[in-house]
Amino acid sequence: MFDSNAQHLVGKEPLLSMLGMQKSFDGNPVLKGVHFDLCAGEVHALVGENGAGKSTLMNILAGVHQPDSGTIRLRGAGDLTIPDEKTAQRLGIAIVFQERSLFGQLTVAENIFAARQPIKSFGRIDWTHLYEDARHLLSRTGLDVDPAMLVEELSPAQQQLVEIAKALSLHPNIVIFDEPTSSLTERETQRLFEVIRQLKVSGVGIIYISHRLPEIFQIADRVTVLKDGEGQGTMGIAATGSEDLVQRMVGRSLQLRHQDAVASGNPILLEVRNLSDPRTTVPKPFIGLENDTLSSRSMTRRKTSSEEQQTAGVRKRRSYSAP
Ligand SMILES: Nc1ncnc2c1ncn2[C@@H]1O[C@H](COP(=O)(O)OP(=O)(O)O)[C@@H](O)[C@H]1O
Ligand SMILES: [Mg+2]
Repeated sequence: MFDSNAQHLVGKEPLLSMLGMQKSFDGNPVLKGVHFDLCAGEVHALVGENGAGKSTLMNILAGVHQPDSGTIRLRGAGDLTIPDEKTAQRLGIAIVFQERSLFGQLTVAENIFAARQPIKSFGRIDWTHLYEDARHLLSRTGLDVDPAMLVEELSPAQQQLVEIAKALSLHPNIVIFDEPTSSLTERETQRLFEVIRQLKVSGVGIIYISHRLPEIFQIADRVTVLKDGEGQGTMGIAATGSEDLVQRMVGRSLQLRHQDAVASGNPILLEVRNLSDPRTTVPKPFIGLENDTLSSRSMTRRKTSSEEQQTAGVRKRRSYSAP
């Protein structure tokens, strides 16, 4: 299962293995027999277009959804069911959700320890302990705010860092980051990567979902691609490149050559050359034809989200030169 570029993982017993995971919502298959594994001390990235099934797979691991079939094992032990989030937490699995899961009206510290507050005798909450622990966890994420502040007073990026502090408070063996950097600045992203590197050193396995391919190359040891609920390969990071990943994600190369375009006889609606964005890897010049899909069916049928645009390389341009 490991390729030659992930030699340091060879022979290691996986911390986690998910085999043949299947899940449908309202009769629509969303996961069609996905395999995924994770070793202690590795960052395993999970990539794919919007709707590929990444969050669903991770929500199964976090006890939010139940699979229709498939097996989950931790450290090779027997098949597990993870009926709820509390069970996942007990098993050492923490998730930083794509959508915020914080309560705006509660303080930062209360959110971090939601329903798990340190208790003193007579069942009273140990507030001193709570704020001390919260301050320590926040400092690990590089967030310098008073743990007594209400979460609704924080910026989206600060709230995201509180989510991360909350995950760390569980002392997990596995941490799932689902698009953690969408609201973070470059500096905050680098701080998050520091946290991830520290977690790796302490033997934690990390699952990292992101649309930003350069981040994957910066932080991941292996990468698995999902497309329409099916695995499209697991590679050591040195054995792949962004073009390979994009091709696996969308099912074909995004580069449509000019002569192919002209030969097709369809009018050219869009032509892009020399577009670049430091946060994503943009395919080289590409051409959009009438009736052509640039990255996925979703782009033609509904308004493209910035994430989809980023995947397809049509994000707000950073640099441009006319053909
Ligand atoms: N709770 C749900 N109920 C119904 N459909 C869902 C639910 N969660 C996800 N889906 C659908 O499953 C598919 C995969 O979604 P998701 O796992 O969120 O993809 P990704 O995280 O890769 O963008 C999408 O078509 C989405 O609309
Ligand atoms: Mg998702």
